[in-house]
Amino acid sequence: MPEPLIDTFGRVHNNLRISVTDRCNIRCFYCMPAENVQFMERAELLTFEEMEKFVRIVAPLGVNKLRITGGEPLVRKGVPVLIEKLAAVPGIKDIGITTNGILFAEQAQDLFDAGLRRVNISLDALDPVKFREVTRRDGYEKVVESIHIAKKIGFDPVKVNAVAIRNLTEDQIIPFGQFARDTGVEIRFIEFMPLDADNAWEREKVLFASEILERLSADLMPLVPLPTKDPSAPATDFEFEDGVGRVGFIPSVSQPFCSNCNRFRITADGKIRNCLFSLEETDLKQMLRSGVPDADIIAAVRASITAKNAGHQINSADYVQPDRPMYSIGG
Ligand code: 5AD
Ligand code: SF4
Repeated sequence: MPEPLIDTFGRVHNNLRISVTDRCNIRCFYCMPAENVQFMERAELLTFEEMEKFVRIVAPLGVNKLRITGGEPLVRKGVPVLIEKLAAVPGIKDIGITTNGILFAEQAQDLFDAGLRRVNISLDALDPVKFREVTRRDGYEKVVESIHIAKKIGFDPVKVNAVAIRNLTEDQIIPFGQFARDTGVEIRFIEFMPLDADNAWEREKVLFASEILERLSADLMPLVPLPTKDPSAPATDFEFEDGVGRVGFIPSVSQPFCSNCNRFRITADGKIRNCLFSLEETDLKQMLRSGVPDADIIAAVRASITAKNAGHQINSADYVQPDRPMYSIGG
């Protein structure tokens, strides 16, 4: 068995996030610019065959968890075909997707049949007007429908990612808590991170996990922490005290979870990134297309993991935002 992908801080990297496109059918302000987005050319994108080849190379190094991301992954045609290919790679135990839910309902059964089980649907407001304010597009009803369909088909878990933004989504906290109780879907509140295309992030716009927890506990029902199943999971999970409904928090800004990180990424244009926030990338596509031996690709992956920093610097005065905004990294 080859050495696993361990970085200089002892973190074992078994979790690969694959972005399949930078395109998106909505325009969340914390991610994309409102207009005139420069998308990647088709020929720049890794093909599904190239993605599969990479997964076959890294699976023997202990990579057993995959997540498909975007942009919005489902705007690329044929994602169920990709899932099927990846699910067949020996060693792959778990495949998830992070989607905005606009196109999920119509593809849900095909995705399930292909072997997908875990789904995170992004939804920042339980209200069509506020939804439009965040996403600058319509589509609220489709997203809600997708959440219900995901549950009905049997995806497990179905989670909702809600980016929490001060002076904007405070009034969504209690409705989301109630939604979690009514539907059995776990709501995960994510602190707004400085990865937006418009460079408009400010600390003052971060609605902290601790405040949301307090608000839910005081105004809906006390929450009790759940034992951590997976220490590398970024979310801390809670359950309402009567056992009905779960919420989680991804306190990326107030309590960075970098010390347990097990994730690395490939962008849609085939760059390896060892962190959401990294300023350097490794050109995987160039290696795949020039036909270098697998051993060279393995060496490049190891070098990237070895170069991984201890954590992000959001809270430091000299934080440098990566050139790529969220939609071109893959969440
Ligand atoms: N801060 C926090 N979360 C973000 N996401 C996208 N951009 C940001 C940001 N700047 C979330 C999306 C989605 C996932 C891919 O990442 O809401 O759920
Ligand atoms: Fe699209 Fe996701 Fe970015 Fe929103 S966060 S604009 S859904 S890629």
